[in-house]
Amino acid sequence: MTIKNIYEYRILVIDFGSQYTKLIARRIREIGVYCKILPWNINEKKIYQFSPNGIILSGGPQSSIEINSPRAPNCVFSIGVPVMGICYGMQTMVIQLGGQVISSEKREFGNTKIKITKVIPLIDNINYNIDSYGNMLLDVWMSHGDQVHSLPEHFRAVASTNNCPFALIVNEKKHFYGLQFHPEVTHTKQGVDILKNFITNICLCKTLWMPKQIIKHLIKKLRNKIGNYKVILGLSGGLDSSVTAMLLHLAIGSQLICIFIDNGLLRLQETEEIMNIVKTNYNLNIVYITAERKFLNALAGIKDPEEKRKVIGSTFIEIFNEEAKKLKNVKWLAQGTICSDVVESEISLTKGKFNFIKSHHNVGGLPKKMHLSLVEPIKNLFKDEVRQIGIELGLPNETLFRHPFPGPGLGIRILGEIKKEYCDLLRKTDAIFIEELQKHNLYNKLSQVFTVFLPIRSVSVMGDNRKYDWVISLRAVKTVDFMTADWAHLPHEVLACVSNRIINEVNGVSRVVYDISSKPPSTIEWE
Ligand code: XMP
Repeated sequence: MTIKNIYEYRILVIDFGSQYTKLIARRIREIGVYCKILPWNINEKKIYQFSPNGIILSGGPQSSIEINSPRAPNCVFSIGVPVMGICYGMQTMVIQLGGQVISSEKREFGNTKIKITKVIPLIDNINYNIDSYGNMLLDVWMSHGDQVHSLPEHFRAVASTNNCPFALIVNEKKHFYGLQFHPEVTHTKQGVDILKNFITNICLCKTLWMPKQIIKHLIKKLRNKIGNYKVILGLSGGLDSSVTAMLLHLAIGSQLICIFIDNGLLRLQETEEIMNIVKTNYNLNIVYITAERKFLNALAGIKDPEEKRKVIGSTFIEIFNEEAKKLKNVKWLAQGTICSDVVESEISLTKGKFNFIKSHHNVGGLPKKMHLSLVEPIKNLFKDEVRQIGIELGLPNETLFRHPFPGPGLGIRILGEIKKEYCDLLRKTDAIFIEELQKHNLYNKLSQVFTVFLPIRSVSVMGDNRKYDWVISLRAVKTVDFMTADWAHLPHEVLACVSNRIINEVNGVSRVVYDISSKPPSTIEWE
């Protein structure tokens, strides 16, 4: 089978800040076509450089009729490719091409049905509901306050609701489409079919973005890039670094050296578990390094979360550098950076100033003292794509469905200064929480669970004795992409059982609390 260029066909998604922008991108990729998200205020040059086969304008939180509200780069409408505007994206397209948008009296939010007045290629060959009058209806999901009032030249409406005469509009000659509803959400039942029509029949993209093809493409690219040099990879045992390791292993075999560092900030039994998984399932060169003392010494007295991240990051780099020197002919450091790490930082740039939240240590380049060049094979992939690739590569379930664990480990779950005794205590509470969730069949239904050490003391009474000990918070969240997350509504009896076990079994804890904050505004980790 020949290796196809998986980037040959590509869709550009222009982001106006909708919570669903990433969902649009995921849907396109699930259909089998590569796509990229760029912010609305991106330089036009980047759009020409990307050279898309089609463009989708996302929804957005602002009102399109507000002064200075975001607009699509003008080249979007002159570059000569099909354009689909969704909700805000439709409205800005209408305004920019000479039509009018007004604030509607009735806000439409939720499920609704649109009546099709003419079948166009975008909505051809999909299942309609037919009502008793013979009308063709589609179940869609809408969320808008403003709506189109008059159309630009050469546009016409092909679907409407009682409140919204322009639910779907088209300029057939130019292949411009405006949807007041959201095809990317599952509530729009034929949404994927509509997107598929747009991408494959209108933009004429072939579906080359498939796990098998992606793997072949990445392996070839890695071989070309790396040459005869050696690569070192910090293997944590998580999904991203394991997929990165397997891809590199297939590409360059023994030129890859994986380094597993026990930094003293890992969970209970983590080292044994990971080494066991790696030894049983992978045939990798692996160097195991114990560096607890080095990390804890470097962190002594540091309370600030960002400072802690920096120190942990640079201690990792120091060890990688030392190992690289020992190994000779090492030129590359591989990292399992994925798309969301990058998208989050690119999108934050659209707000005008850099909206700094946290410095994820694998984004933003390496410190100057690093002597190695970076190789990041899965940088363009979303988490679920990485998992699909992992499945295709035959990774075990323990890796595929392992909850993510941050690079700085317990270092950002012990608030303030890090001490070994706090790490030991937190490891025990964390293990109890995870064990109980597994016992109650809940672990696999959650996205990330852990405990947090709060450096405050609280009073409790054990037997007849007064205790004045530490507070532990439980954190459990559900999320698809880790950019937003809901706190998990765990059953009270499970919470009671966890709290009871922690207080009874872990010396030094006097109180357990449950974190009921969602992201946004509260991030998943406490620091
Ligand atoms: P936040 O706390 O930003 O977390 O909502 C989102 C996801 O990222 C993980 N996380 C990190 N991972 N280095 C990492 O490798 C970091 O510094 C870091 N901070 C947060 C977090 O565990 C969650 O999965």
